[in-house]
Amino acid sequence: MVSKKTADSKEVDVFDLQAVEGVGKATEEKLNAAGITSVLDLAAATPRELVEIGLSAEKAEELCLKARLLLIESGFLDKEFVPATEVLERRKSMQRVTTGSSALDSMLGGGVETQAITELIGEYGCGKTQICHTLCVTTQLPRQQGGLEGTAIYIDTEATFRPERISQIAEGRGLDPQKVLENVIFASVYNSSHLQLTVKELGRYIEKYKARLVVVDSIISHFRAEYVGRGTLAERQQRLNDLLHRLLRTAQMHNVAVVVTNQVQANPDQFFGDPNKPSGGHVLAHSSTYRIFIRRAANNTRLARIIDSPYHPPTAEAYFKITEKGVEDLQEGKQ
Ligand code: GTP
Ligand code: MG
Repeated sequence: MVSKKTADSKEVDVFDLQAVEGVGKATEEKLNAAGITSVLDLAAATPRELVEIGLSAEKAEELCLKARLLLIESGFLDKEFVPATEVLERRKSMQRVTTGSSALDSMLGGGVETQAITELIGEYGCGKTQICHTLCVTTQLPRQQGGLEGTAIYIDTEATFRPERISQIAEGRGLDPQKVLENVIFASVYNSSHLQLTVKELGRYIEKYKARLVVVDSIISHFRAEYVGRGTLAERQQRLNDLLHRLLRTAQMHNVAVVVTNQVQANPDQFFGDPNKPSGGHVLAHSSTYRIFIRRAANNTRLARIIDSPYHPPTAEAYFKITEKGVEDLQEGKQ
C-alpha cells in the first residue's frame, strides 16, 4: 500500500465491501458477480461499470466516491487535493527496479518506478519483450541489488512469454531458476475484453501474490486487431482510456511498477522526423507516465530514448544490449 496510516486514521477492513456506506448484502452480491470484492476494487471501478451490472447512475457514482473516501479516511489512499509537500512525501514511497542495465536505469532516474506506467515503444524485435522478461527477474532481487523483493505478474496478449527465457536470465544472474519461475505469475489474455477483465481483478492478485511488477505485453495488440477502420476509433480509444486509467490507479494504490509495451505504427503521411509513431494515439500518450522509445542500433545494440516524461530531459538516452542474462550494459560495469 502506498500511504501511511496516521493516528487519526479510521480502521477499515479493505476487503469487506460492506464497510462502504450504502453497500448491503444485495449490492455486495452484484458487485462480487462483477469481480469487485473489496473496497480497493470498488475504489478503482468506474461508475459506468457499476451501471452495467444494474446499479443506477447515481448509486454507482456514490459508491465509487464513498469507497475512495473511505480509503482516504483509513489512510490507504492519499487525499485528492494535497499540498505539494505531501505529493513529495507520497513519492518517497515510490521505489525503483533495475532494468539490468545501469545506463538504462540512469536514463530513467534510477530504474523503473512504482506508482507509474512505463510504456516501452518500438518496432518488431527491438527488445520490448526481453526487457519485460528481465524485469520479472530483477523485481525479485533484494532492495540493495535494485529489486523490489516481490513477485511479477505477466499479462501476455501476444503469446511471446517464454518461461525458458526467464529461467535462462535467472541462471545468468546467479539465481535459482526454479524459485524465480515460481514468482512470475502468468496470465494469457485472448481479446481486449478479457484484458479489461483481467486488469479489473488485478488488485486482488497483486495482494495475493505480493506482486511489485505488472507487465502487459502488449497493451494495444488486441485493440488494434479488433477495431479496424476509422469508424470504430472513438470506442476503441475510450476502452483503452478506461484500461490505462485503471492500470495507473492500480499502480498507485498498490505501489507497483506497471510496464506496458506498444508497437509502432507506420505513418506514411509523415515526411519529416520518424515515420514510425506509437500506436494508441493521444490516449496512450496521456496515460503513460513514462514513454520509452527503443530501436535497434549498430552492432546489435539497442538505443532507448525517453520521449515523454514529467521530469526527465527529453534528450535522455541510453545504449544497452540483450544477452543470455537479459538486458545488460554494453560493457559490464560501464554505462
Ligand atoms: P515485437 O513483440 O515483435 O514487437 O518485438 P519486441 O520488441 O518484443 O522484441 P523482443 O523483445 O522479442 O526482441 C527480440 C530480440 O531479442 C531478438 O531479435 C534477439 O536479438 C534478442 N533476443 C531474444 N532472445 C535472446 C536470447 O536468448 N539471447 C540473446 N542474446 N538475444 C536474444
Ligand atoms: Mg514482444
